[in-house]
Amino acid sequence: MKRNTNYDNLEQSYLFSIIGKKVNEYKKQNPDKKIIRLGIGDVTKPLCPSVINAMHKAVDEMGVQETFRGYGPEQGYDFLRTAVQNYYKNFSVNLDLPEIFISDGAKSDLGNILDLFDKNNTVLVPDPVYPVYVDTNIMAGRVVKFVNAKVENNFLPMPDNNVKADIIYICSPNNPTGAAYNREQLKEWVKYSLKNGAVILYDAAYEAFIEDNTIPHSIFEIEGAKNCAIEFCSLSKTAGFTGTRCGYTIVPETIGKLNKMWVRRQTTKFNGVPYIVQRGAEAVFTEQGQKEIKINIDYYKKNAKIISDTLAELGIWHVGGKHSPYIWLKCPNNMKSWEFFDYLLNNAQVVGTPGVGFGINGEGFFRLTSFGSYENTLEAMERFKKLF
Ligand code: MLT
Repeated sequence: MKRNTNYDNLEQSYLFSIIGKKVNEYKKQNPDKKIIRLGIGDVTKPLCPSVINAMHKAVDEMGVQETFRGYGPEQGYDFLRTAVQNYYKNFSVNLDLPEIFISDGAKSDLGNILDLFDKNNTVLVPDPVYPVYVDTNIMAGRVVKFVNAKVENNFLPMPDNNVKADIIYICSPNNPTGAAYNREQLKEWVKYSLKNGAVILYDAAYEAFIEDNTIPHSIFEIEGAKNCAIEFCSLSKTAGFTGTRCGYTIVPETIGKLNKMWVRRQTTKFNGVPYIVQRGAEAVFTEQGQKEIKINIDYYKKNAKIISDTLAELGIWHVGGKHSPYIWLKCPNNMKSWEFFDYLLNNAQVVGTPGVGFGINGEGFFRLTSFGSYENTLEAMERFKKLF
């Protein structure tokens, strides 16, 4: 046996595991302190009533001979694929059902999709970035190049024609910075990608937080994107499915052989998302479901505003919070990211995510999420006010 030694090139642990461990240690030593977690982007509002009703109904069906379901289609049931297809019509994007693949979340498929690409492709990722893009490519032994996301470019790097890349990652609205590309900027990326014969892996997990139509919800709103992009979306943040697991991946039929290859990959390695979960996901896309999830998204947006307003009041530089559940701030007093993490945990018992965990350009920055409860967000900001 020869093990995959590319794993030796990874950071020792996944960012959110390190944070979890640090917080648990602190908790053990300080059992009386109330910790407020604004670190990992995990939602706190329960699943909405339409989803719960649909799931209950599906559970009942599973207990009756006539309506019981075993293995489902690996690509997802047509009832959910059709719901996704109709949802995209809101953005004037026409998809054919064979282009829509139901997944157990964007994170899994962002890793799985790499099965389709040769090891010798060059990968381009922004820095800072969601660690999954980098780690999954390191595991496969690919060369990863970085494009700098900085204050100077509003954390929205643009393509450089002198840099040749084959696989490009874009997350908009962005995790971790909350920055979002407008239509003109995305056109540039599509143009670059078509010119270089590259593929864009577009992470749209936060599209439901977009507030106006200057920001595309889907890369496929851009002409030509169906020839060069694959899109990943998730119901995790949109509808509280972080624990339930359901998302969708769009692999256009017009992007060479990739659609057929993905069908082949999925039918071999995946047995589909549970029927009960898919019925719940279908309910998200109904008129009532959309109304209900909007209430939760607005709740998180209100939290984002509380965070953003407090930071502004304290004179702490930050971006995000608009079109996004994340707020990206400059660590006060020129602290480094992990230094600020420890300082905040020890002095305010507030947990956030050190910017450097997302890449070198994140050093000196810090991410807070608006996914906590309203009460905890308010309290966390009161603690900030006492500290700074
Ligand atoms: C985050 O906090 O960056 C996200 O929760 C990670 C994820 O969605 O996997």
